[in-house]
Amino acid sequence: MFKIVFLRFRTHFSLISKITIDQVFDTARVEEVVGDFVQLKKSGSNYKGLSPFTNEKTPSFMVSPVKQIWKDFSSGKGGNVVAFLMEHEHFTYPEAIKYLAKKYGIEIEETQQTDEEKDEANERESLYLINEFARDFFNESLTDTDSGKAIGLTYFKERGFTSETIQKFQLGYALDAWDAFTSEALKKGYQLSYLEKTGLTIVKGDKQFDRFKGRVIFPIHSLSGRVLGFGGRILTNDKKSAKYLNSPESEVYHKSKVLYGIYFAKQTIAKEDNCYLVEGYTDVIQMHQSGIENVVSSSGTALTPEQIRLIHRLTKNVTLLFDGDAAGLRASLRGVDLILEQGLNVRICTFPEGEDPDSFARSHSLEELTVYLEENAWDFINFKASLLAKETKNDPIKKAETIRDMVTSISKIPDHIKQEVYLKECARIMDISEEVLFSTLAQMLQKEQRDASKRKAQDAVSMQVVPPEREVLEKVDFLFELEQKIIELLLLYGDMEEAFEELVMETSDSGKIVFKPEWVKAKVFEKIYLDLQEDEIEFTNEAFQKLYFDIINKYHQEGSLKLDHFVQELPAAFSEIVTHILMDEEKHQLHHWDRREIYVKDKKQGISQMVSETILNLRRHLVNLKIKNLAESPVENGAYVDRNIPEEVQDYNKLRDILANRLRRVV
Ligand code: CTP
Ligand code: MN
Repeated sequence: MFKIVFLRFRTHFSLISKITIDQVFDTARVEEVVGDFVQLKKSGSNYKGLSPFTNEKTPSFMVSPVKQIWKDFSSGKGGNVVAFLMEHEHFTYPEAIKYLAKKYGIEIEETQQTDEEKDEANERESLYLINEFARDFFNESLTDTDSGKAIGLTYFKERGFTSETIQKFQLGYALDAWDAFTSEALKKGYQLSYLEKTGLTIVKGDKQFDRFKGRVIFPIHSLSGRVLGFGGRILTNDKKSAKYLNSPESEVYHKSKVLYGIYFAKQTIAKEDNCYLVEGYTDVIQMHQSGIENVVSSSGTALTPEQIRLIHRLTKNVTLLFDGDAAGLRASLRGVDLILEQGLNVRICTFPEGEDPDSFARSHSLEELTVYLEENAWDFINFKASLLAKETKNDPIKKAETIRDMVTSISKIPDHIKQEVYLKECARIMDISEEVLFSTLAQMLQKEQRDASKRKAQDAVSMQVVPPEREVLEKVDFLFELEQKIIELLLLYGDMEEAFEELVMETSDSGKIVFKPEWVKAKVFEKIYLDLQEDEIEFTNEAFQKLYFDIINKYHQEGSLKLDHFVQELPAAFSEIVTHILMDEEKHQLHHWDRREIYVKDKKQGISQMVSETILNLRRHLVNLKIKNLAESPVENGAYVDRNIPEEVQDYNKLRDILANRLRRVV
């Protein structure tokens, strides 16, 4: 199992070698690393400084060069050098190691990288380098060329951006010529294929064009400050071209995972423990310039779960800032539920008609802006109530709709205590009994659960139509898991030879037929194949059925299964199922099965047992289904139309008892 997990992760991450990590820890000095971010003064054998995590006035931040640790007495945080970078710069562990390696000139040795992975890493690095070259080129065009100054710089100044702001955000201008950037980049030795991949250059036949020609440029940064892509704003009132043009998706730029401004905002977001979310580039920049730095933007696209998780690395509190116009509001409100669903707290603040954060920040002082944000940021319950009040004060239908909408939002919150608090708040504000709200919430949650298991079943039982009744769903789930388990066993242990307990039919001395248990050696795949064939069992799930035959064929023909090859050869949908099964293996714990009266022992107790149990469980389950179906056969005058049914049911009942007995014995 370990091997498989490893293989899978390997394709996603390259690993930094243990040697490199040791070397980094041996070399890095905590006082030097911290000193790059915090002013430290010697104090006895330690260093002291102002906490970078709070707004304190007297120093309570200590660094011990002897112990190579730091401690922040105002926030309670502390740890080694890597922990500092993870806390302060919000790096992941590998990012912190890489940062230190770079600072101390240590070469990073990566383990287990295939050639393909090395190529990929090189490609990503090349794209970053090109983006960074482009950022500098655009920035210089803005400040050092005549047309840049006359057109780009004038535009930014008209918007009220200062030179510091322009430099801080590394804004730029793309000259209004077909290939000013591309030809310069080629001259500098950057490869055309990579230029095209960043989207900076558009290649058509043997001609090349600059994507952003004639636009002012907003570089988009990652959390750690690398340039992922660009936004370019048009300067003319040309209705035919889009106002903003953005870099296309690439190896380094994934729109759904990026928030504009996050690099400049991260420190303040953590310090203020709140993140303002605005709609556009200029909103972010203008608010920064005004002195509110914990601002990011989803850049005009709908908020995604990945973006929320990015914020979650820094704070649990989000305040959405919306324009005054109502049109965008409805759509943006969907973001509220998404944020709640991720376990974050959300507040909403709107601006007066016709204003956006950009214009409002520009025309008000920092103090006015701060007070406005404080006074107009409402939690979602009060916000939704205020919308209702604006629209239709006493319309009972609208009011009922609003309450429903509120409870829907509340149902997304994972924390039950919070759920209850909000429910009570909702009851109070909307003047409705808590009991009704609680039962509505319970209903919603139940439905949600049903839908979820339905989705799960549908994903797996592709094609099969699943009626929504609870009972049926459980049956499907039940079978689904058993069938999945069979596939899992085949994948993991198919070619292992095990001893299985078989019942061999014998005639006793008195002439009765008895079953005598006997240990028979067989490979796991043979055992499964023969048992299922004997009972003519077919999988209800088409995908599993197909996989089953694929796997069995492989074993029959080649005697073994190379998992990595096998996964690669499968069509995408199937390889997804297989990886899911392999990764999910740990989840199939005892309690999971117990709850449904499926008896499975701990897998360490033996593969043979697990195989036998799974097959027995599957058979028992199918027998149960059969009995149930028979019992539901048509009845007339209190008797089954088909006279044979009672006998059949009896037979199956016997079989069920035998299977249950065997299962109990196995367990
Ligand atoms: N946007 C985009 N493409 C467009 C329009 C908008 O990518 N054609 C994104 C940009 O990130 C923009 C944000 O959506 O910043 C908000 O759009 P809008 O409110 O129209 O732009 P502003 O930021 O207000 O831009 P400006 O003030 O420069 O007009
Ligand atoms: Mn605007």
